[in-house]
Amino acid sequence: MDYRVILGIETSCDDTAASVVAGGELLSNVLSSQLEHQAYGGVVPEIASRSHQRYIMPVVDGALSQAGAQLEDLDAVAATYGPGLSDSLLVGLSFAKALAFGLDIPLAGVNHLEGHIYSVMIEPPRPALPYICLIASGGHSQLVRVEEGFHHTVLGRTRDDAAGEAFDKVAKLLGLGYPGGPQIDRLARKGDRTFHDFPRSRPGDYDFSFSGLKTSVLYYLNAFSDKERNEFLDEHLSDVCASVQEAIVDVLVARMREAVRETGLRRIAVTGGVSANTRLREAMLNMVYDEGGELYMPALEYTMDNAAMIATTASYKLAAGQISPLSLAAEPALAL
Ligand code: KG4
Ligand code: ZN
Repeated sequence: MDYRVILGIETSCDDTAASVVAGGELLSNVLSSQLEHQAYGGVVPEIASRSHQRYIMPVVDGALSQAGAQLEDLDAVAATYGPGLSDSLLVGLSFAKALAFGLDIPLAGVNHLEGHIYSVMIEPPRPALPYICLIASGGHSQLVRVEEGFHHTVLGRTRDDAAGEAFDKVAKLLGLGYPGGPQIDRLARKGDRTFHDFPRSRPGDYDFSFSGLKTSVLYYLNAFSDKERNEFLDEHLSDVCASVQEAIVDVLVARMREAVRETGLRRIAVTGGVSANTRLREAMLNMVYDEGGELYMPALEYTMDNAAMIATTASYKLAAGQISPLSLAAEPALAL
């Protein structure tokens, strides 16, 4: 069966998002980012779920009208069912279930991580399968082999902090706001990335570990008195940002290079919020040039959480015959 028109919904964290994909092409992508959390320096789960409740209807309406579609045009509805914040997931998933039930169309529950993996399929150029994908986001750092028929094999994952979490935690230590990744990226552009040699950890296999880096930044800053530290950061904040960023990027690129050499796969995708990072994009491009491969990265608006990736993933999932039951439960700790 060909599910032509698919509505996708994403509410796993602090973005309420909806998108319509038809025949594999993106027709609309609407996102309401909750600014309510900024004052708290991180996402507050209770506020997130309440805000999703408020925004879900206008966001879905917006996605339908931007696509020029009516509810009756939908052939399937998809929603993220994990991983993420429990009450936030429930808002989008329950909404999707109600639509699937009311319109008598299939439901596709989408793993948020699969969403990031297939974010390179939202628009051309799209990689042919199989490809190797790095998901680097606030909650996850994983290296995945993506196969035909909606199969994936995890090659490596983080043993502690995710890459985006490392950016955010270091940014907090440096007194920058949340989320810290974009701020470190911006400051690092003016900085010297060889200013300080922060540790590049290598826990084994294709795994990552970033908690040691965060601790080493903490020790590095604690070696100063408060007054000295302020003076030091006044002068060298961008150098520290560039050095920390380089340590994170080096590790991500090194693992990907090994995966390319050892699997022989030359199609490479880099996705998730951290794939918006200017230096990571540049370093991955250089690596792929050296190794002789093809690099696929989502456009910036599809690196962070969005529903276009959920609707697109659903089109692959449904094509592989994977329909979810209406009894599907939200799974906050869902893995790949
Ligand atoms: O994929 P995403 O929107 O949400 C999760 O699924 O986690 O990723 C958010 C993460 C945050 O940790 C944020 O700091 C990071 O992506 N991020 C960046 C940049 N833009 C977003 N990290 C480094 N450089 C960036 N330009
Ligand atoms: Zn995400």
